[in-house]
Amino acid sequence: MPKVTRRAILKASAGVACGFGLGWTGNSIRSALAAPEPQILKPRKIEAKLTGTDLTRDVLTYGDAGMPPVLRMKKGAAFAARLVNGIDEPTTIHWHGIRVPNKMDGVPFLVQPYVYTGDQFDYAFTPPDAGTFWYHPHCNTLIQMGHGLTGVIVVENPSDPEFDAEVVLNLRDWRLGGDGQFIEQYRPRDAARTGTFGTVRTANWIEQPQYDAPSGGLVRLRVAITDVTRIYSFRVQGADATVIAIDGNPLPKPFPLDLIQLGPGQRLELAIRMPDKEGALVSLEDIRGTKSAVLATLRSSGASLRRDARDLAPLEANPIEHVDVASAQHIRLALSATAENVAADSICGSLGYSFWAINKVPWPGDTPDPTAPLAELKLGKSYVIDMENLTPHAHPIHLHGMSFTVLSSSKRQVQPLISDTYLIQADEKVQLGFVADNPGDWLLHCHIIEHQKTGMTSYLRVV
Ligand code: C2O
Ligand code: CU
Repeated sequence: MPKVTRRAILKASAGVACGFGLGWTGNSIRSALAAPEPQILKPRKIEAKLTGTDLTRDVLTYGDAGMPPVLRMKKGAAFAARLVNGIDEPTTIHWHGIRVPNKMDGVPFLVQPYVYTGDQFDYAFTPPDAGTFWYHPHCNTLIQMGHGLTGVIVVENPSDPEFDAEVVLNLRDWRLGGDGQFIEQYRPRDAARTGTFGTVRTANWIEQPQYDAPSGGLVRLRVAITDVTRIYSFRVQGADATVIAIDGNPLPKPFPLDLIQLGPGQRLELAIRMPDKEGALVSLEDIRGTKSAVLATLRSSGASLRRDARDLAPLEANPIEHVDVASAQHIRLALSATAENVAADSICGSLGYSFWAINKVPWPGDTPDPTAPLAELKLGKSYVIDMENLTPHAHPIHLHGMSFTVLSSSKRQVQPLISDTYLIQADEKVQLGFVADNPGDWLLHCHIIEHQKTGMTSYLRVV
């Protein structure tokens, strides 16, 4: 057991104790009791080499140097992290996609206080699901995330099939000028459209990195889109790739990757069969936009392992409660642009504009103002969100705290994918079903951060 001070206990009574709530059953009791040493996550300002030439100043990361660490957790095992604020403004951490207790969700004022400069906050929870997730602040997010505070989380499952290698990619852009220094993070006229794009594209903070992988081997490629704006259309060249999981959840029916479009906040897991020939290259590309871009490459190395992708056992499904569509209450959610263009003040820093609305209300900031929730849900009951996009742009809509199942779409055949983020297309109507099984106040917002911060945020209350 870590040493516990009285101060820590006082703090714990507010947060940590409830943190173990999800794990407080059956087999998890032992691991929950054996509270692990917290992993220290200290946001800091650093200089980093993001382009071929200059060091970039005012980069933010967790730790001393380089990209925020890939956090490794185990499904059903207690995890603890201590946020120690080393930057000159308040911050918090949100565990995107992990079904944590509400107090651990990292949304300032809705569920926890600001963590001021020099102060600290203990997060503790037991991840109930295995898969690829990520973490980021929920405070002044356009700047804090835009400058670097986005990291990947891998939740391992002891029953996962065996791969020959695993590669994790943190995909994001940077708004840098020709001198390698940050330029303005957004332009209002872009915020009112698709969002403002970065100028330098990286994977793991490197432009087009290359990784070795065993020839003829099976690689588990975990990709997280942590960019604040960009929607990607992924394809793989040079090898067969199978989509095995999206947004942390295994696909009911894995399929060969042809092309898949995913937005900010989303994750993709691929099983890639490397070529047999030493030195052969496999590339992950984004073909959205005018020209295709290579994001990262894998290079076959060594003698071929001659693996067969069909030998891979399927991933185990996560324990998500089944939505009862017949009894479900429906929640209508209309996404629209708003004519209003005034500076709406917000707790967590406002961009000074509102361009977007949910059910005609433009919500400001990283956190909704303490206005009423969009809907109050009863614990344990089934719900269907009827979401309609009345705008000419796509929006990756993210729900905190609970995973939904995609039930139907007006635009395409859908698999019953389980997810926390749905990339809704222009004029699309979609139905997302879930059981309200996690009590608390849960944000629901667009993950194009400029949209989030100029109106497209709200929250659901589960009691
Ligand atoms: Cu990545 Cu409010 O979330
Ligand atoms: Cu949006």
